[in-house]
This record gives sequence, C-alpha cells and structure tokens, in this order.
Amino acid sequence: MSEFASVIRGVGGYLPERVLTNEDLSKMVDTTDEWITARTGIRKRHIAAEGEATSDLAVAAARRALDSAGLGPQDIDLIIVATATPDYTFPATATVVQDKLGITRGAAFDLQAVCSGFVFAVATADNFLARGQFERALVIGAETFSRILDWSDRSTCVLFGDGAGAVVLERQTKEQAGDRGVKGIHLRSDGRYRDLLYVDGGPSTTQTVGHLRMIGNQVFKHAVGKISDSVKAAAADAGLAVSDIDWFVPHQANQRILSAVAARLGLDDNKVISTVAEHGNTSAASVPLALAAAIEDGRIKQGDLILIEAIGGGLTWGSALIRM
Ligand code: ACO
Repeated sequence: MSEFASVIRGVGGYLPERVLTNEDLSKMVDTTDEWITARTGIRKRHIAAEGEATSDLAVAAARRALDSAGLGPQDIDLIIVATATPDYTFPATATVVQDKLGITRGAAFDLQAVCSGFVFAVATADNFLARGQFERALVIGAETFSRILDWSDRSTCVLFGDGAGAVVLERQTKEQAGDRGVKGIHLRSDGRYRDLLYVDGGPSTTQTVGHLRMIGNQVFKHAVGKISDSVKAAAADAGLAVSDIDWFVPHQANQRILSAVAARLGLDDNKVISTVAEHGNTSAASVPLALAAAIEDGRIKQGDLILIEAIGGGLTWGSALIRM
C-alpha cells in the first residue's frame, strides 16, 4: 500500500472553434441528421482549424486545468499525453506540449491506447505518483481525429470530433488527501480484436498515416459487457460498491452504449455525464472533456465519487474510481 494518494487538483477542456453539424455532414455523404441522432445521439462535433495541431489543443486544455488548480507550468514535473493522433510520428506530442508550456524539468511522454488512452494515462500517472517518483502530473487526452477520418465513409466520419481535456493529478500524503484521490483501477487489452477498430496505415507498415476503419456493430457488442465488467472490477479494487458512485463519466462514443452500461450497472440515467451530443467521439479527450463540462456546470463537486471508463481500439478498455 502506498503512503500517497493521487488527487485531482484541476480540470480543463478545450474544443476547437469550428462546429460541424449532422446537417453539414448530410451534404458531404449519404446520411441524415435522423440516422446519426437515433443511432449515436451525436448532433454536432468540433473540428480543428487548419494548422491547429493536437499539441495546440492539449496546451489550451492544460492551461485551463492549471488555472483551475491555481497552479502554473513550473509546478508540473510529469506530462502524459494520451493520443492516437500525435503531431508527429516522433517526438512525443507530450514533449511539444512541455516546450509550449515552458517546462524544462521532469519527464513527458505519450501513451497510446486510443479511446481508452486517458484512463490508461491516469492509471500510469497514479502509479508514478504513488511510488513518489513525481509530484504533479498533467494528464492530457488530446485528439485531432478529423485528420485520420475517411471523409467519404459515412459509417465512420459522422462519429468523431476533435478536442482535448486535461487534469492536474497531485501526489498528497494520505493525511493531506483525506478520502480524496484515485481509489481503484482496472485495465484490460485483448489484441485478438485489433481488426475491429484500427487505422490502415503507419510508419513501419505502409509509411503513410492511414485512415480509421471500424466494424462498428461488432465494437458495440463488445462495449457494453466489457465496460460493465471493468467497472465492477475497479469498484472491487477500491473496496467500494457500484451503488456508491455519484457520477458516471464514460467515454463518449455512443449514447446507446452509455445508457446500456448504466442500465446494466443499475445506475440512474441522471448520474451519467453525457456530452456525446455536442462533442461526438473525441477518443482519448472525451472523458476529461466530459469531466470538465460537469465540473463547470456545478454537477460534480469536491468529495463526489466519480467513475471514468472507456473502450477503444486494440481492443483496450478500463475504468477508474476517483474521489474528487
Ligand atoms: N448514415 C446512414 N446510414 C448509415 C450510416 C450513416 N452515417 N452509417 C452506416 N449506415 C448504414 C449501414 O450501411 C447499414 O446499412 P445496411 O443495413 O443497408 O447494410 C445500416 O446503417 C446499419 O449499420 P450498422 O453498422 O449495423 O449500424 P449500428 O446500429 O451498429 O450503428 C454505429 C453504427 C453507430 C457505428 C454503432 O455500431 C457504434 O456506435 N458502435 C460502437 C463504436 C464505438 O464504441 N467505438 C468505441 C471506440 S472508438 C475508438 O477507439 C477510436
């Protein structure tokens, strides 16, 4: 048992200015607002401007998280950027973020677990903090999925959007933290399912960036069961019951998945934070963006027990219970 707790000190989100509605999409591919809304709950999504990179979104979200924590860049000694859409093949986008924030100490690296990236990054930072190796981490989910979409494929291009979210995770002694902090974590991957959701390009295979490909209905089938089992495992790891959860902050892929998971876990629908209508699926950014939105509108408060979860390409999936 570690003598430390990893406490969320600040949260921030950033969405690019440009909005793309379902109506806009119906002029680009053979789809309708009715189909997209009924099948996914998505009404609009944000798209990064030309020249606006994943690191720019990440820096904007990080600054807001630092502001909400009352901290500055100099207080950070670890940066983890969860992204599947990095600025470059290398160096890590986290090092670009580090430089743009003017941070010259500590470590910065990227983490790749696609839509589950933020949950995996929180788990990773929590372990570093628990060992006492770092003091304060910026954990960021940032994506520009608009850059890897095949805009002629109606089965995928209507689902995703761009954005970034960040939290400041701070090492505190158990006495300082009280009951706050990361309580329980559960992470899983199963590479046998990697063909259900992937990008058909990469440096060592095609030497191209590639486009996102997904067998959506098969991912859907895996999602509900795997997420529900993961939430139960994270609760067991924390020694808590699912019924103790105040707010469910899921990865925002599809409203139908959110509602089905909540129903299976016996969670009230009004405990589920949903931003999928306004943001679409922003991959690793979706959980911290939803968290930022629910803190900003006053729903999530200090002391609340939240559950974050996600499933994504790999397949990867996981959950974390956190006392705010
Ligand atoms: N507009 C109109 N029709 C469409 C569209 C569209 N945009 N896209 C597909 N269709 C059609 C299909 O061609 C198909 O037509 P057919 O019956 O004539 O063959 C029909 O709609 C049904 O297609 P399905 O794929 O079976 O539809 P489904 O109800 O499964 O909804 C969706 C598709 C929304 C993608 C859903 O499967 C889903 O959300 N899956 C999960 C995605 C997910 O959770 N991803 C998580 C991780 S994301 C990440 O890691 C990057």
